Amino acid sequence: MFAAARTMLPLVVCGIVVMMIGNLPLISAQTECGDVNTLFTECGRYIQPFGGRTPPSPQCCQALGNTNVTCLCQYLESYEMIFSMEKIVYVLEQCEMPLASGTQCGSYTAP
Ligand SMILES: *[C@@H]1O[C@H](CO)[C@@H](O)[C@H](O)[C@H]1NC(C)=O
Repeated sequence: MFAAARTMLPLVVCGIVVMMIGNLPLISAQTECGDVNTLFTECGRYIQPFGGRTPPSPQCCQALGNTNVTCLCQYLESYEMIFSMEKIVYVLEQCEMPLASGTQCGSYTAP
C-alpha cells in the first residue's frame, strides 16, 4: 500500500507540472503566436529552470520555427519562475534563431 503510494508520487508530481504548463495563459497566445503546444512538448525540458544547459533537439528547433518567438516573448515575463530565460536565449542561439537585437523577451533584452 505504502510502497504503491511511493511509486505513484513522481507520477502525481509530474501530472501537476504538466497541468500547470497546460493552464498557462500562454494558451491565449496559442493561436496568436503559433504552435505553442508543440513548442512546450518539444522544448519544455530544455528551458526548465533546473539542471544544466542541454543542446536542443532538431524537433525543438523545428517547433521554435513554427512559433512566433517575438510574440511569445511578451507573455513570458510572468513565467520566468517556470522557465529559465537564460536557457530560452541559449536554445534560440543553438537553433540559430537568435532574437533580433533590441527584442524584449520577458525581463531580457537582446543585446
Ligand atoms: C510576430 O509577433 C509580433 C508581435 O506580436 C508581430 O509584430 C509580428 O508581425 C509577428 N510575426 C509574424 C511572422 O507573424
